Amino acid sequence: MKAIILAGGNGTRLRPLTNCLHKSILPIFNKPMIFYSLEAIAKTGIKDVIIIISPIVVSTYLKLVGSGARFGLNVSFKVQENPMGISHAILECESEIKGHNVLVYLSDNIFGPDFDFSPAVANFNEGCELFFKKVPDPQRFGVPTLDGRKVLRLTEKPENPDSDYACVGLYIFDTKACEYIKTLEPSARGEYEVTDLNNIYIQDGAAKANFLDAFWSDAGTHDSLHEANEYFYNLNK
Ligand code: G1P
Repeated sequence: MKAIILAGGNGTRLRPLTNCLHKSILPIFNKPMIFYSLEAIAKTGIKDVIIIISPIVVSTYLKLVGSGARFGLNVSFKVQENPMGISHAILECESEIKGHNVLVYLSDNIFGPDFDFSPAVANFNEGCELFFKKVPDPQRFGVPTLDGRKVLRLTEKPENPDSDYACVGLYIFDTKACEYIKTLEPSARGEYEVTDLNNIYIQDGAAKANFLDAFWSDAGTHDSLHEANEYFYNLNK
């Protein structure tokens, strides 16, 4: 299995912090945000990681992450000129991931250390693997419609969510993902949504749902960035 970390995007919800600094290099307590995803992926045994970055931060990432050797990883970078959504970013890596299952990690998703997705990686065969967390503000996320613990469908940022769960920014896809993405149309916000890709797997009966108890934050807003910092400060002090 290979991994893609999505660290492109403009971080508009974190301005003015992101006027000059890219979101993924902002600190979460004592480390840049991107280190959390690299360390978590290294724990699973995956070696090959592609980090999708924006053109303005190439030299920063080379300095900060380099070859990935300090994490025990083999890291390469892909510069994304025009961010057009998570599914689009996965498709941009098509030649690198051809014939491999792929773990996709959104770099602003921060998990507590008690969440280890190594078993999900080790046991993965086919289809897709999704992770859900109960949240007070599901409108910000991809939200599942549930029948018990069975996911019937996902809706991206619904005004009236069907459940209190967020689909977190960590996904495992089999080798069919790129073919499925090619069938997608851009959403109302002009993006090729990962939610639309996930819905294809769900309709196929090929999506496995996992429900998390561990700490999780999508640190893409000032509040959630603060929350992630506070969590790791309290954990480390
Ligand atoms: C993205 C996904 C959304 C998911 C979220 C998790 O949202 O589109 O389904 O719940 O990541 O962080 P975005 O960061 O594009 O708002």
